[in-house]
Amino acid sequence: MKRDERLTVGRILVVDDQPANVEVLARILKREGYRNVKSTNDPREALPLFTQFQPDLILLDLVMPHLDGVAVIELLRPHIPASAYLPILVLTADSTAEAKRRALSAGAKDFLAKPFDRTEVLLRIQNLLETRLLYRHLQGVNDTLEDEVAKRTRELQDARNETLQRLALAAERRDDDTGEHIRRVGALSALVAEAMELTGAQVELIGGAAPLHDVGKIGIPDGILLKPGKLQSEEFERMKTHSAIGADILAGSSVPVLRMAEEIALTHHERWDGTGYPYGLRAMEIPLSGRIVAVADVFDALTHERPYKEAWPVREAVEEIERQSERQFDPRVVEAFLAVREGVSGPEPDPETSRVASALLEKS
Ligand SMILES: [Fe+2]
Repeated sequence: MKRDERLTVGRILVVDDQPANVEVLARILKREGYRNVKSTNDPREALPLFTQFQPDLILLDLVMPHLDGVAVIELLRPHIPASAYLPILVLTADSTAEAKRRALSAGAKDFLAKPFDRTEVLLRIQNLLETRLLYRHLQGVNDTLEDEVAKRTRELQDARNETLQRLALAAERRDDDTGEHIRRVGALSALVAEAMELTGAQVELIGGAAPLHDVGKIGIPDGILLKPGKLQSEEFERMKTHSAIGADILAGSSVPVLRMAEEIALTHHERWDGTGYPYGLRAMEIPLSGRIVAVADVFDALTHERPYKEAWPVREAVEEIERQSERQFDPRVVEAFLAVREGVSGPEPDPETSRVASALLEKS
């Protein structure tokens, strides 16, 4: 019969308690050019051999001492990935129909009658190895496609994140031309969210969305936004509209980070005691993202110079945040903020937290 060279590299594992059977099979296979054949006469060796050898095809006797063929299949099954096609060819002499049915339902693919007929042995093996090879090829193609999709998805995510950052920068450009404030608020919000033990995905969402908290300032006239002195009350009322304007700009998206940004833009000036704006929400009525960004935004504003004020020393800004616990801020968020600060000044600071937090505070 015609030999397919590609198949002869296939790894074949033979499990049969009769040494004579194994010898006959080994001889037939060797003569045909199969180079990777391993065998055992002890079914208890099947699993360790399988793990070590990773066969493409198993030739398995049904009636054996210690473990019969069906038991061996059941032992191997948890080690065969659901997506893998690993053919098992059962060797039978005079097994009952019931034994064959059990072998098939356990996962055997075909039967080979003893004593072995050389042509039949080679034909069955060739067919099963061919299918196995095709499966492996398809699996390879699928893996490549999945890698490609993952790469494209990452590129899209990067592009989206960059666009969001640039939108935030555009909105902030008139009163913070370096964009440092929004970057710091994003980073500090993520650290606080992490200290509150939110999931990694939520931390990432808050960190990515927080820089957009003041995107609504785009709708505030220069005369108010850049005014060096204190705002008149009607000017302040106008300034307050930046929350709703920001939420409007971001509204209606199905993208999670934009939905989060909308929530933050709308609620980052709400206060725990209910005296904030735009709605005067109170305590837990305020979304957690808004409560977190409120602390990060105020801390960063206090510790940096603005047209109307000097930068506060960090210690005084921290004291102010603590004072505002349960007034302006959620006490749990303040606690998490203080834990992040501990990361900078504590006895054994976590190096990563320290690095980010130090960078946040370096200008203070
Ligand atoms: Fe704001």
